Amino acid sequence: MDEGLDVRRALVAGNWKMNGTRVSVGALMEGILRQAGDLRDIEIAVFPPFVYLGMVADLVRHTPVVLGGQDLSDHDSGAYTGEIGAGMLRDVGCRYVIVGHSERRQYHGESDELVARKFARALEHGLVPILCVGETLAEREAGETEAVAGRQLGAVLATSTAAAFQQAVIAYEPVWAIGTGRNATPEQAQAVHVFIRGQVGLRDPVAARAVRILYGGSVKGGNAAALLAQPDIDGGLVGGASLDAAEFLTICRAAATRIGAAQG
Ligand code: 13P
Repeated sequence: MDEGLDVRRALVAGNWKMNGTRVSVGALMEGILRQAGDLRDIEIAVFPPFVYLGMVADLVRHTPVVLGGQDLSDHDSGAYTGEIGAGMLRDVGCRYVIVGHSERRQYHGESDELVARKFARALEHGLVPILCVGETLAEREAGETEAVAGRQLGAVLATSTAAAFQQAVIAYEPVWAIGTGRNATPEQAQAVHVFIRGQVGLRDPVAARAVRILYGGSVKGGNAAALLAQPDIDGGLVGGASLDAAEFLTICRAAATRIGAAQG
């Protein structure tokens, strides 16, 4: 058993991606907040589209649910049409920001270096970055899973210190598992999480024990408990299932049960 488990508070993060209306966002938050008070041992975070951040910030005030952005600019402010800065995310009440999601890397051409700059910018402004790494199916089949995760993580370690991971989160999201209904097995995910923690540990063993590593990719109510039972899986980054309050709360409860199990 990883001795760091008891110091790492489980985090269940709902990445809503480009989904929602004011009506659906209101209903989803009402469903989540109705039960979130019973789940204070874990941390629950939601990541609405930018335009709904202010609305959700008002709804989560005085509740245990925290807020995050789905992306940020690597610039502070200025003539960058369409971009959102870290300071703005802080200003509207965000604690977290997702950095380097595979959909940003794939559809918006984000390089490892750009992701590393965004990660540093988030930290500079007191946001907790959630760095996403993960391989495509072709890369997994070519045996390159560790090489890809190592390269993506390495770019960040080259820009920020390994100690920075005491204030950051990593999410292992295999691209082939995202939105496909085909999750990594708990053993597959655990193996990559151990590798990732090891990479941080080569430079900073304290940060390696502290950093939470989330699994993302088709996490559902039905598979969450098995995934979260793995000693190095410290939570989930949930896409589709986070749009359904009941399903999302089932995942949160699985994370809370994991804590109970770890404490014996
Ligand atoms: P799904 O849970 O829909 O597979 O999405 C995972 C994800 O990309 C979360 O960031």
